[in-house]
Order: sequence, then C-alpha cells, then structure tokens
Amino acid sequence: MSTQLAHHRPQWKTHIGFLLAAIGSAIGLGNIWRFPYLCYKNGGGAFLIPYFVALLVVGIPLMILEIGLGHKMRGSAPASYATISKRWEWTGWWQIIFVMFGIVLYYSVVIAWCLNFFFYSFSLSWGADPNQFFFKNFLMTSASPFQIGDIRTPILFSLAVVWFLNWFIEFLGVEKGLERANKFFMPLLFLLMAILVFWSVRLPGAQQGLNIYLKPDFSKLKEMGVWIDAFSQIFFTLSLGFGIMIAYASYLPKKVEIVKDAITISLTNCFFSIFAGFGVFAVLGYMAQATAQPVNAVVSQSIGLAFVAFPKAISLLPTLSRIFGILFFGSLVIAGLSSSISIIEAFTSGIVDKFHYSRKAVVSIICISGFLGSIIFTAQGGLFWLDIADHFLTQYGLVIAAILECIIIGWIYQAKRLNEHINHTSTLRLSSLWNHQVKVIIPIVLVIILVNSLIQEFSSAYEGYPVLSLILIGRDWLIFSLFAAVVISARSWKIEPSQRMQH
Ligand code: ALA
Repeated sequence: MSTQLAHHRPQWKTHIGFLLAAIGSAIGLGNIWRFPYLCYKNGGGAFLIPYFVALLVVGIPLMILEIGLGHKMRGSAPASYATISKRWEWTGWWQIIFVMFGIVLYYSVVIAWCLNFFFYSFSLSWGADPNQFFFKNFLMTSASPFQIGDIRTPILFSLAVVWFLNWFIEFLGVEKGLERANKFFMPLLFLLMAILVFWSVRLPGAQQGLNIYLKPDFSKLKEMGVWIDAFSQIFFTLSLGFGIMIAYASYLPKKVEIVKDAITISLTNCFFSIFAGFGVFAVLGYMAQATAQPVNAVVSQSIGLAFVAFPKAISLLPTLSRIFGILFFGSLVIAGLSSSISIIEAFTSGIVDKFHYSRKAVVSIICISGFLGSIIFTAQGGLFWLDIADHFLTQYGLVIAAILECIIIGWIYQAKRLNEHINHTSTLRLSSLWNHQVKVIIPIVLVIILVNSLIQEFSSAYEGYPVLSLILIGRDWLIFSLFAAVVISARSWKIEPSQRMQH
C-alpha cells in the first residue's frame, strides 16, 4: 500500500521547477507594495537591519524546517504532523484552513483589483483624482464593516477570472500546472520588474525618492514596532506558517539540497523586494518633483501605494504612461497568482493525503468554495473585512502556527532528528545552532512579538474599528478554523500516517 502511495505522490519534474514554484509562492503582492512602504515608514535603509536580522534569526531557519519536514515526511502539513503524533495533527489543519478559507479569500480579491487596474491602465481610467476613483468609484467603500452594501460587479468579474486561473493551474497538477505556470510566471515577473525599475530610476526626480527610501535613520531601531514589522514581514513574505513549503517539499525527490534551496528561496525573495522598492520610490520621487511636493507628501500606506499613489504617478509620466501601468499591474497579477496557487496547493495536498479523494475533484470544489467565500470582500464593506481579517490572520494566525511548528518539531519530534535528515541530504550542513534556534530562539522571539501585538490589541481597537467587528471578523475567524481543524483531524485516515513513512 505504501509503495502505491509513493508511486502516486506527484513530483516536481525538475529542481529548478521546485525552486521557481517556491520563489513564486514567496514573491507576492507583499513584496511589491508592502515592503517598500514598511521600509520607508521604519527608518529607510536602517530597516534593512531588522529585516535581515529577522531573515537570519527566523526566516531562513524556519524555511529550512518547513522544507526539511515536508521532505522527510513526504506529506502536507497535517500529514507531516500526524506522522509525528496524531495529537498534533490539528495544527496542520488549522494552518491550512485559515490560510485557504481566510488569507487566500481576500488575497484573490486584491489580485482581482490589480486585474481591474491592469485594464484601467489602457485608458488611465482613474482620471485626475485616483484617490476618489479607488475608494469612491471603484470600491464604493461603505462607512463601516457592518455596512456590507452591494457587491461591486467589476471586482466580482475579475475575481471570477482570478479563481478560474487558480483552478486551471491547480487542476493541471503539480508538474503540468504549478511547475509549468511558475516556469513561465517567474522569468516574466523578473523581466517586467527589471524594465519597471530601470525605467523608474531614470525618471527626473527619481533620486529624491531613492534618498528617502534608503536614507538610514538609525534612531528608529530603538522602537519595538520597527522590529515587529520586520519579523511579521519576513513571515508573510517567505510564506512561512502557511503550510505551503511543507507541501511543496513533499513533492521533491529523495536527493535534494535542502539548506541551499532554503537559502536560495529566501534570499531571492528578499532581494526582489529591495529591488522592487527602488522602482516604487523612484516613481514617488518623480511624482514629488512633478507636483512640486516633498516625497513624504506623496507616499501612502500599503493599499494606497499601489492603487492611489501609483496610478497618480503613472498619469504624470512623460511618455508611454499606459504601458507603464500595464506592466506594473500585470506584474502584481503574476506575483499574486503564483502565491495564491501555492496556498490552494497546501490545502489540496492536505485533503488528498488524508482522504485520497481525486485531486481534480478536490481542486474544483475548493476553488468554487474559494470563489464564493471571496465574494464578501468584493462588497462595499469588503475593504474593512479585508483589513480586519488580514490583521488577525497574519499577526496572530501565522505567528501562532509557527510557534506550534517549533514546539512540535523542536521538542516533540526533536530538532536533532530533523537536523540529521537535512544534513543527510545536503552538502551545506547545519550545525547544532539550528536546533537551538528551533527549540528556543525562534519561539521566544515569536512569543515576544505575539505578546506585543496583544498588548497593542487591548490598548486600542485596531484602526479604530468597532470592537464587535474585530471579534466577529478577526478573532472568530481563527476560532472557527480551529474548530474545523479539530473536526477534520478526528476523521480517520485512508492510510494511517505511520504507514506513510514505510516507503
Ligand atoms: N508570500 C506572499 C506574499 O508576499 C504571500 O505576498
């Protein structure tokens, strides 16, 4: 039976195919609009210090852990934890459930906005006031999370396209779908981003923006919030705590280079962010000069950066502005899709591992449910829902999932055992420092982050939203996923997890 299982487990056809898929998962919407803004807000170039500290202390070690775990257990997150101990299976389910029926639901809606803006770029439809256009004409934002309002048809339409693409790629399978799509998406994304960055840095005034982006303000490093932002960003950007890397690594052949691959994926992702930041800030510098304002007057927060500041800058470009818009929003769509498919895969592989249902049927059902679940975020109150769900699922869900990951691997399975497996496969070897990182250092750092977030949470309502909306849309989302996770983990396995490892 287990040989049959081994035979049926999909595999990446090529090593580069795996690398590109993992990089595709890591590089997402967060790299293009979130990183540059965080960098600006948290001391410019000085932010790179906590960012790289977070990468070294938590990012790369956890990336090694997730890839090592998936490779060793040859299974999705729930299958891997269940192989270690059935008692902990729920953590794997919880992780992939709140990511699939939480994060990817609104993440797809943001990709849908990018798709709308891709088409709007052809005619610069946002006109002279992109702020008014985005919030009033496009989102038609209501006044509070409780005023859900009407579904916005243009968003619904592109959302259907996004979910169709998600479904299509996933339906084709690991090798023919995910691997092929990423082999096409990633080189295209790198090319588009290179064009955009080289174009932007040559614009008049670009230097002014770059000075702001990279001007180190070391005094910021004294603020706890800067460090929390760096650690949270590393998590989200490397797709850690999502269960994705565990599933992706389970499709690797026996002979691999886990440590080198983990480092390659993490560094490529982080350098891509820094590189994209040059383009974003050069454009803002140009816009500041063109409108005779200081750069800090033209920078806006995360969503506003992509959908308000950028459209404004695009309209001001001296030449080929439409093409610039098409390339920019096209890049966001590609970066987003290569991440959303990886989230769907993490969930799909969990269900297929446990129940042995047909992969195609599973993918079809979850993409239809995903589409239906996303619709709430296309309504007029959707922006608030998105903001609240994102805050809770990423700041608490991912961090708690990673703490549990460290406890299960570090203490229950024993970090030393996974270390041995990883070293067995790699020419670049791990020292025992990694064991201490997994067992002690990472959990302590994450608990500090968690406690700080909780203190902030209780001291003031997030973004001034009504407390009831934070409870219902944020906290309860995590609690319902937990409930679903416990229910699924109580069901029996088609093939017992312990037998999975016999091949
Ligand atoms: N890692 C993905 C991103 O940064 C989820 O958007």
